[in-house]
Amino acid sequence: MVGKEHVLTDPQLRAGYERDWTGRFGSDALAVVRPGTVEQVAAVVALCAREGVAIVPQGGNTGLVGGSVPRGGEVVLSLRRLRELGPVDATAGQVEVGAGVTLHELQEHARAAGMEFGMDMASRGSATVGGMIATNAGGSQVMRYGSMCDQVLGVEAVLGSGQVIQRLSGLPKDNAGYDLVGLLAGSEGTLGVVTRARLRVVPRPRYRAVALLGFASVEGALEALAATRAAISSLLSADVFFREGMELVCAHLGSERPFTAAAQAYLLLEAASTHDVAPDLFHVLDRVPGVLGSAAATEPRDRQRLWAYRERHTEAINAAGIPHKLDIAVPPGAVAAFERELRALLAAEAPEARLFLFGHLAEGNFHVNIIGLPPEDERVDGLVLELVARHGGTISSEHGVGIAKARWLPLVRSEADIAAMAAVKRALDPALVLNPGVILGPLDRPA
Ligand code: MLT
Ligand code: ZN
Repeated sequence: MVGKEHVLTDPQLRAGYERDWTGRFGSDALAVVRPGTVEQVAAVVALCAREGVAIVPQGGNTGLVGGSVPRGGEVVLSLRRLRELGPVDATAGQVEVGAGVTLHELQEHARAAGMEFGMDMASRGSATVGGMIATNAGGSQVMRYGSMCDQVLGVEAVLGSGQVIQRLSGLPKDNAGYDLVGLLAGSEGTLGVVTRARLRVVPRPRYRAVALLGFASVEGALEALAATRAAISSLLSADVFFREGMELVCAHLGSERPFTAAAQAYLLLEAASTHDVAPDLFHVLDRVPGVLGSAAATEPRDRQRLWAYRERHTEAINAAGIPHKLDIAVPPGAVAAFERELRALLAAEAPEARLFLFGHLAEGNFHVNIIGLPPEDERVDGLVLELVARHGGTISSEHGVGIAKARWLPLVRSEADIAAMAAVKRALDPALVLNPGVILGPLDRPA
């Protein structure tokens, strides 16, 4: 169906598709299948559904919750060959691309047409459009432009039955029936396989300014965020990290700290617009109380240097050990208490473990990274997620539920809610072959 050369069974050729970024999740695949067209995707899905062979759809393999690598014996369906880049339509503010296009390729494509794709994240070189839709990815610009689902105007996808649905008209107002596009966004490859997408592009902000600020606690960072958000409309990003992360990243990169003052919490702000944003941003920040140290940048290289302290967290942590990585969010009012209680919980329950906390402050979205725990020991993961639920938060903010967190879904979703999701799953993937176990955990197979 896809050509012999695109069915990889040799263990060496399969290896790059079988383990995730953290090194915590992965197993042997039956084969890696690399279709080059939507028709080939549909044929492979239909065959697997007929034969009852499980499929793990995969984009750039940057997933962090075990949802895009095999658990043992599945077909990995790699969508990376679907790489068409359609023309950027400046009138509609849209572009149509294949699922295998990387975020970086999409960003460059939009920029070449004088526009911008409104999302960014450290994995831009590998993360693909299809994977970003499947996980409803977030990143560092959600405050301004929303998550991936907010960029998606339409998709082409292959459902579990092998049937193809196409909603690519790009009509911003189109209410003819259920929002299947919205349903597929965040479905983590359990309902359908996205093969193509129609995406929103926005005016290109030619002026950017970045400031990195140090505070004695996360409360200071929250106060600074509130003041900036209220004063300027050009705020794009507000990411947060802590002293341990700064020390780890500096040691990993062999770089100096951005300023000498010792801070416990760091806030990285970026403003961007079609006009010069630096004067407004720096004017507001001059008046923010409690700033222990700061660094600012407007030129691309200097901005990148400041972002590296935040963006290089993932690789620095992976180099230090296999992390238990819990992507969660709590309401803004609960952020400070959650951070305090999380540190107390770990000190009491796993004093030998090391905590690295970072994320996207505007959404209360923290990446709780714990190293020093055995990879298969999930006791502390459970305690952390229970703490999140007690604070009115979510156990899955932007990475997905995957395999990693499926057993804790009832912490944040009711029985009725889970039953409704299972009914949708059974309707769109009647043979239950699409990414089994992801989100909902094991479901009874049809006879
Ligand atoms: C990030 O914010 O850098 C990503 O979500 C990746 C991660 O959490 O490691
Ligand atoms: Zn993130």
